[in-house]
Amino acid sequence: MDVPWWRKAVVYQVYPRSFADGDEDGTGDLPGVRSRLDYLAELGIDALWLSPFYPSPLHDGGYDVSDYIDVDPRFGTLADFDALVADAGARGIRVIVDIVPNHCSIEHPAFQEALTAGPGSVQRDRFIFREGRGDAPPNNWESMFGGPAWTRVSDGQWYLHLFDSAQPDWNWRNPWVATMFDEVLRFWLDRDVGGFRIDVAHGLFKDAALPDLDDPTPSDRISPYYHQSDLAAHYRSWRAILDSYPGNPTAVGEIWVEDPEDWRLYLDPAGLPQLFNFLLLRAPWSADAFRRVIDTAFATLGDSPTWVLGNHDVVRQVTRYGLIKPATGVMTQPGTMVGPNAVIDQALGTRRARAAALLLLALPGSAYIYQGDELGLPEVLDLPLRDDPVFRRSVGHFLGRDGCRVPMPWSGTTEPYGWHRPWLPPPDNWTDLTVAAQQADPTSTLWLYRDASRIRRAHEALGAGELRWRDAPPGGLVFEREPGFVCAINFGPGSMPLPGYGKVLLASSPLDDAALPPDTAVWLQAD
Ligand code: NOJ
Repeated sequence: MDVPWWRKAVVYQVYPRSFADGDEDGTGDLPGVRSRLDYLAELGIDALWLSPFYPSPLHDGGYDVSDYIDVDPRFGTLADFDALVADAGARGIRVIVDIVPNHCSIEHPAFQEALTAGPGSVQRDRFIFREGRGDAPPNNWESMFGGPAWTRVSDGQWYLHLFDSAQPDWNWRNPWVATMFDEVLRFWLDRDVGGFRIDVAHGLFKDAALPDLDDPTPSDRISPYYHQSDLAAHYRSWRAILDSYPGNPTAVGEIWVEDPEDWRLYLDPAGLPQLFNFLLLRAPWSADAFRRVIDTAFATLGDSPTWVLGNHDVVRQVTRYGLIKPATGVMTQPGTMVGPNAVIDQALGTRRARAAALLLLALPGSAYIYQGDELGLPEVLDLPLRDDPVFRRSVGHFLGRDGCRVPMPWSGTTEPYGWHRPWLPPPDNWTDLTVAAQQADPTSTLWLYRDASRIRRAHEALGAGELRWRDAPPGGLVFEREPGFVCAINFGPGSMPLPGYGKVLLASSPLDDAALPPDTAVWLQAD
């Protein structure tokens, strides 16, 4: 089918700090990524998305940017970036960069100028500064990371930050901000990027009246700070910039919704090319839940949507799917019932995560893989140190997202698995999960991903397009894709008869003659 590359791409997310370390300072970097391009090429990916590598004080892992058009010295140089893009391109891999337009870092020169220039200045108008209500903040909004969404500066005014206090929100109603970001897009497009992942893409415009909320609990609902109608025109203008470059660059918006109907604001063919569909990621392990979210995604987003099972903000699949008894007291994040006292069956979680991977790569559209998911890494819950502002701002009540950001285990039988003093220490029980160990084991999760992407590339039915459901027994899902491809998943608890087929292409766990064991997925060539 003749569709833009991004409608069928397998995109691999690299969290640069934790991927590979070129200079052995304990922090991953761009030369490290470049040194692992053969590994990524063998995974059969079409693009890699780099989480932020820009100059940053790293108060939120780099999502607090102090210069949008440079590379933090800890991550390398612009020359390293160019070399990475060129070498990736030589392997047929595009590079997508993460753009963070909702907020910057308190160290961004524009914010520093705003602080110095004082109330009423043009510099302050680039951010959202207001007088308080007496000693209280200007309104009752809360930060997504906990605590108030406002911080007071020495002259008494307050600035808005939907996230950490180190991340002041830009005022998108000021044209200076829009022009600045147009230039940022062009800067990276001129360096041949394949497109952008847009951070908090639903948050840029705030209701100018900044009204109090009836319920200030942070949420992804339509609100005075999320999903404002001005975004539609905004993304049309960004699309025009993208379309003025060759190679069909994409932009995929990070748009969390509570109601999938809220996506409609963004579904303009002349607007944002893609948005993240996180429905699968939030679905519990059940055939009904998966079927429901898949149908909802098609009904709302049309054919070939995006699919996501994991990223640097959520608990790893192996741990999510292996959760037997939820945590009490300390959890990873609000509403995420994983914590040190949760009961987790890692073998079960791994089995399910492998099945989910086959589903992900068989669905019509573009699939996002987060680094380490191809190794079946679990969430690390007992880290000796934590860096996430979610942990800091909740005073330890929520562990935060460090557990899915532990450095990739490359080699060796003891931690730190090929790293030199990594910024977060990997656990000591990952010996069998390293890349080197899994490369040597044809039954490993790494080989499952490699085989699946090889088949996905070769099979005419896979990539963009549609699916058709077949009847399946309770607890199972079966769909076909033309020509001649069938995917079946058994969510358990019993065995499920295999649908009729010509041959088995790939299975996430060994098959039981003509039956599909629980928590297993299979790809079949139709008769
Ligand atoms: C979403 C990013 O994925 C997350 O890591 C970050 O903390 C927030 N946006 C704020 O930038």
